[in-house]
Amino acid sequence: MPAENITSRTVTFDERAFLVDGQRKLLVSGEIHYARSPRELWPLLLDHAKKLGLNCIASYVFWNWHEPDRDVYDFSGDRDLGHFLFLCAERNLDVILRAGPYCCAEWNYGGYPPYLRDEPEIVIRTWNEPYLRRVEKYFSHLVPEFRPYLASHGGPIILVQVENEYANVAKRYGAEGQRYIAWMGALAKKLGVDVPVIMCEGGAEGAVETVNGFSICREGMIQFRKAHPGMPIFWTELWPSWYDTWGFQRHYRDPRNIASHILSFIANGGAGFNYYMFHGGTNFGRTSMYLQTTSYDFGALLDAHGRPTLKGLYLAKLHTLLTRNAAIILEGKCEVRTDASGDLTATWRHAGKSLTVVCQKSPFQAMVKDEKTSVLFDTEKVYSATVASHRPSTWKEFTTPKEWRAWTEPSPSERTDDAIASPAPLEQLSLTHDNSDYCWYSAEIKLEKNGDHVLKLSHCADVMSVFIDGRPVGVSQPPFLENRGPTSTTANVKSAEPQVNPLESAVGHYNQTFTFRSLKGVKRLDILASSIGMVKGDWMIGASMNTECKGIWGKTVCDGCSIKNWEMRPFLAGEKLKLPTAMESVGWRSASKVRNQTCTWYRSTVMISKRILNSNADFRLDANGLGKGMLFINGHALGRHWLVEGKGYGADEPWQNIEVEGLSLGPTGEPTQRFYHVPRAWLSEVNELVIFEERQCAPANVRLEIRKA
Ligand code: GAL
Repeated sequence: MPAENITSRTVTFDERAFLVDGQRKLLVSGEIHYARSPRELWPLLLDHAKKLGLNCIASYVFWNWHEPDRDVYDFSGDRDLGHFLFLCAERNLDVILRAGPYCCAEWNYGGYPPYLRDEPEIVIRTWNEPYLRRVEKYFSHLVPEFRPYLASHGGPIILVQVENEYANVAKRYGAEGQRYIAWMGALAKKLGVDVPVIMCEGGAEGAVETVNGFSICREGMIQFRKAHPGMPIFWTELWPSWYDTWGFQRHYRDPRNIASHILSFIANGGAGFNYYMFHGGTNFGRTSMYLQTTSYDFGALLDAHGRPTLKGLYLAKLHTLLTRNAAIILEGKCEVRTDASGDLTATWRHAGKSLTVVCQKSPFQAMVKDEKTSVLFDTEKVYSATVASHRPSTWKEFTTPKEWRAWTEPSPSERTDDAIASPAPLEQLSLTHDNSDYCWYSAEIKLEKNGDHVLKLSHCADVMSVFIDGRPVGVSQPPFLENRGPTSTTANVKSAEPQVNPLESAVGHYNQTFTFRSLKGVKRLDILASSIGMVKGDWMIGASMNTECKGIWGKTVCDGCSIKNWEMRPFLAGEKLKLPTAMESVGWRSASKVRNQTCTWYRSTVMISKRILNSNADFRLDANGLGKGMLFINGHALGRHWLVEGKGYGADEPWQNIEVEGLSLGPTGEPTQRFYHVPRAWLSEVNELVIFEERQCAPANVRLEIRKA
């Protein structure tokens, strides 16, 4: 329940700001997704939010986090939304709750529960009865969880967002789509949401529309005002950098550029902003969208462990300045001048005081002065001072686990569980319902000659490992494109009609060809299909999200002949045995005896003293030397690992001019992600580290690193 000393508050808005109890409030907000950290970390994250000068926290509520299986709702433990809200209230932090049902966020399936894909007659994100019924049912469970925390009930929630950036798909769904988002806003209100409902980048009658971006330009704000008279301009997503996807270098955004854009936004009459992300956190387990790395660092103000970054320490000084001067900014009379070179000067006057912001375009920097023309903030000087006083703590080796033991997955022919037989391969999600990344596809093929052979899969996703008679002969690389095109040329393909697409019609991004050497004869073909997350939005597959497919669902041909009679085995045998927690269910042997094996589970024990556990040290796993698979500690899923080299920018980067946005890249020649967050809360004195490795890589160089705060 909300802290007792808070009484009911009203939230309204005018063209300058949101008002809490009739007082305009400059929102200096930061996004923290509680689903991206264990609950033990939440207090530290919120304490730092407070220390770095925020007055508000935003979070998405991921539907699939709270309805992990159809009709199974979970608001406990790390999913305890009420507890997160309580911790915000305790610290006097307001909350913007971004309630979905659709979120995006580089989270698996944009937050939707994967079961939605297979609901009969469903079309997601538009006016469609089966979809609306599921949304209404979920919302009728969700809203009572957060209703007591609404400002009107004395709680911290001042704004509730429904849907997300509907403008991205509005064209596809036309009038039906508009009807759906208007219904969403009305549903929230019907269920008792009595604070303003907001919608970002795409709005509906009755909701306050807000804006997202790296920067919000003056021209855009003038247009926004014309289109939304009487509404404040709130920046729901201020991107302090960008997310990282497998196969590319990591991103970096210059903090000075961020500060300058904030000041220019405020100078042009912005009502407040929310860093997306303030704390990016981690996509533990299988929560990442397609291609998203396990880290969701986002170049944020706090790192994954909750420690302020240099960017955070620097921007904190701007937050203090802004909140101290909130009254003059929101109540004062403001004069804005722009000159021919694009430089902008804004001066507010209020109660005998003045405040001036000067934003210079080239080089892009800004300065804030008061009426005595004392410089209160200078983007360059404050930055140099922050750099000079910053002493970052460093990571050191804590231990290199020894005595690795191994258990190799049985090949599909050795498995004792029943296979699903079908003349054509069956699409993977219809078999796993996304409860696993993995599905084996097996068939007999007859090779007519000795030498090179060509295997073609017309529709497959995401990563295929091919074996002939148990021997690894090829691994595919996905296209590393976020927008990979429709999963079918007939757009609405699902598990029911997987084999109808002729090879010729396959979209390049799902088409894989393997050349391998083999002697002639009847051979066993096994393909391990592995998913690296479901898409986050329609545009990634150029069709409704319920056409998302994994595994193999098209024509399969070897040396020009169709392959018939497939057997599918969803899940790894180790997953079925719940190996990360029930390790004694199989016989392990020394890892030195399983050299060059693919598809192998490894385990080792790591000891940590009570003293270190009770300190506030951080831990991470250096996955150096591993290939691709999954990591676990004490039964907790740390996420997917993949040591794929990062090269260049993501192919679908949304910006054109990186100079303007202050974006650059991390070093070349390194894996996109080598280090993996190991939350202290999941550690104990004796720790069982478990790795599933798809490739011929062993964990000899894996080590646990420590950082003392
Ligand atoms: C926005 C979206 C967020 C997140 C962000 C990526 O367009 O609303 O959910 O995906 O992009 O940085």
